Amino acid sequence: MRILLIGSGGREHALAWKIAGSPKCGKLYAAPGSDGMSDIAESVNIRADDITALLNFAVASKIGLTVVGPEVPLVAGIVDAFQDAGLRIFGPTKENARLEGSKVFSKELMKKLGIPTADFRIFDKYEDALEYLKTKKMPVVVKADGLAAGKGVVVCKSTEDAKTALTRMLVDKVFGPAGSRVIIEDCIKGEEASIIVVSDGKNVTALASSQDHKRVFDGDKGPNTGGMGAYSPAPIVTDDLLRKVMDKAIYPVINHLASEGKPYKGVLYAGIMVTDNGPYVLEFNVRFGDPETQAIMPRLKSDLVELIERAIDGKLGGYALDWNPRPCVSVAVVSGGYPGDFVKGMEIRGLSQAAGMKEVVIFHAGTKSGRRATDGSRLFITSGGRVLNITALGSDYRSAIDHCYEAVRAVHFDKMHYRTDIAHRAVRN
Ligand code: GLY
Repeated sequence: MRILLIGSGGREHALAWKIAGSPKCGKLYAAPGSDGMSDIAESVNIRADDITALLNFAVASKIGLTVVGPEVPLVAGIVDAFQDAGLRIFGPTKENARLEGSKVFSKELMKKLGIPTADFRIFDKYEDALEYLKTKKMPVVVKADGLAAGKGVVVCKSTEDAKTALTRMLVDKVFGPAGSRVIIEDCIKGEEASIIVVSDGKNVTALASSQDHKRVFDGDKGPNTGGMGAYSPAPIVTDDLLRKVMDKAIYPVINHLASEGKPYKGVLYAGIMVTDNGPYVLEFNVRFGDPETQAIMPRLKSDLVELIERAIDGKLGGYALDWNPRPCVSVAVVSGGYPGDFVKGMEIRGLSQAAGMKEVVIFHAGTKSGRRATDGSRLFITSGGRVLNITALGSDYRSAIDHCYEAVRAVHFDKMHYRTDIAHRAVRN
């Protein structure tokens, strides 16, 4: 079967790596794909949000299955467009993708269904939001309603911080219409984890648990990023905790949407905060986590394409995934300055040496093919903030961390940065 994967980052490279290994995959295309994955997926020069061009390509190329990486095309309705054209595609409809596309929709649904989540209020007027702030103890979280490329959630330690976030969203409109409504939410304390499941509209299959590291510096310091690393499984997600998240958050959403005649098919990702009072849902996402996927895929023994096809066909009932019990750690190697300004075009050295190391697999997040080395091998240059997701398995967390950082230290480019404490909580736990 010909499979089309949409997206170009480290998450998509990890999905491509797994899909390419499936006996069901005859040929894999990626739109736009990347140079880093071009040995397993033929790049198609179409942007991930150009739904019309993607659809035309899928029809012309007789694509049997389309898998969507990022949220933007899902929220824009790519699944509806492909299904209307009679094509098989994995993901939720535009209406169901509002679970991620509108935080207001998502929080109101959580409230309606009694899903544990932080108390919140919704505002579209700056003055009203300021009045509400006067009644709040800090910290609070200010969230833009719509998609904001991962920059729409601000944890505010002081009233001044909250005012600044509200001014940016409601007055300066830095996120355009995505910030025309905001949520002010209580800040809950605890440890975060990611519960990612696949649903066929009725049945649910959970992927292995994981935890990501959002802050740019060690010790969870500095600004939030698109993810500085992840590991799987997350020891904080005990069987009991997973059952609670399934019963109190995942099934209520899946059952509710099914009862409304809008069955949810695709990935449902619950970002949770584990507190002394149990798990709270921070957010729902409608796609695979990034960079969690980079730490989860190397542990998945089952066929990802079979899982996806079963979800599309409503056949997940009684289906269980087979996992490698060994932990996996993935470290994001980023351009210095990220998530602020950074320079691109730095030559990356040591990649083939790192990729050849025991237990290691490297996913490219933001690279481009550069000149050829003297031995004929391809050299890569940096082309994004997050550059590589260097990933390794181990017999336990300590050895996975050691394998991973040995490979990280073999790689070098000018102004390279990475966190040195990825998965430290797993060791501590
Ligand atoms: N790891 C956070 C996300 O995928 O949204």
